[in-house]
Amino acid sequence: MNNCKAVEVAKNIYWVGAVDWSMRNFHGYETTRGTSYNAYLILDEKVTLIDTAKINFAEELLARISSVIDPAKIDVIISSHVEPDHSGALREVAALAPSAEIITTNPNGVKGLTARYGDLNYKPVKAGDSISIGARTLQFVPTPMLHWPDSMVTYCPEEKILFSNDAFGQHFATSVRFDDENDLDTVFFEAKKYYANILMPFGKQAQTALKALGNLEINLIATGHGVIWRKNISKIVDCYKKWSAGEVAERAVVVFDSMWHSTKILAQTITEAFAQRGIPAAYYDIKATPTSDIVTDIFTSKYLAVGSPTINNQMMPTIAGFLCYLKGLRPVNHKGFAFGSYGWGGQSIAQVEDELKSAGVEIILDKIKIANLPTSQQLDDITKQILAI
Ligand code: FEO
Repeated sequence: MNNCKAVEVAKNIYWVGAVDWSMRNFHGYETTRGTSYNAYLILDEKVTLIDTAKINFAEELLARISSVIDPAKIDVIISSHVEPDHSGALREVAALAPSAEIITTNPNGVKGLTARYGDLNYKPVKAGDSISIGARTLQFVPTPMLHWPDSMVTYCPEEKILFSNDAFGQHFATSVRFDDENDLDTVFFEAKKYYANILMPFGKQAQTALKALGNLEINLIATGHGVIWRKNISKIVDCYKKWSAGEVAERAVVVFDSMWHSTKILAQTITEAFAQRGIPAAYYDIKATPTSDIVTDIFTSKYLAVGSPTINNQMMPTIAGFLCYLKGLRPVNHKGFAFGSYGWGGQSIAQVEDELKSAGVEIILDKIKIANLPTSQQLDDITKQILAI
């Protein structure tokens, strides 16, 4: 796109990233609002580029850079994260600016970039290292596992800008760059969804990073995805404190699949019983809602009930896939149980319970296993059990 322009986000600091409006699946995370790959260009004595973009967007990235400066004049490239949504166009940029230093963490950044892009002009850095690029200093803070072992953030004390890469990001495509220029409910939902689907397994590492960043004065959080935070910095940092601590609310999530409505009737009964108990409950037919949205709700809900009928001696593949995804996210502080119907056999309900246990969910109710259609008496009994939770 020849008319792509850089967006100045602070004096002589430009957003030069790309907006991926059509992205709908990010390694299994259903990105229903697209995403952006944010890169930043700092014009100083040493022209510095922080991150690149996914390879398909190299042209857009270079067009935005070229709208303010010849890419050949880039002296320093900072690679915050090897994952190709940020490093994908590194070789293309380095080809235009072959003498630019590429700053990355050691050893994981160097190893990862070398494996993907070959032997370029890498300059490894470690915690506490900084460089002067002229009027500005850039300080490097490794943030391992946020979201890969190589990840780091960069702080510019003169500008009070934190270039945070994946941290504080959202998979959210928008034509305007700042938090307050967008609908904030949507932005915070997408920030929570991003944390739940990408960073949930790494709460301890997130807390360590928040401590390392705790004393910094920050006027701008320049993220690697979605909006740049300028008006709601303390609010998003407070969210990260709560999310990384695994705080959950008195809320229930009921997830199920059904073949001939029996498990669906159980799910309806369980949802209604939670509501009668005074615990707000969300009801998710797995076929009707993206797993990534369901996981976002589970993330901050104390209770989780998962149901599947039995098919060919197994749980439904939809529920198996959902539980596999959930287990990988290593949820904490959840209590739950399994439910389901069956015609014969009925193995699925124990399988669901086993998967919930291995996902770290504390089982608080014996599995609800109903042959054929539930009777009124059985539904009353289920309601009583949930009212007694
Ligand atoms: Fe946005 Fe972990 O890459």
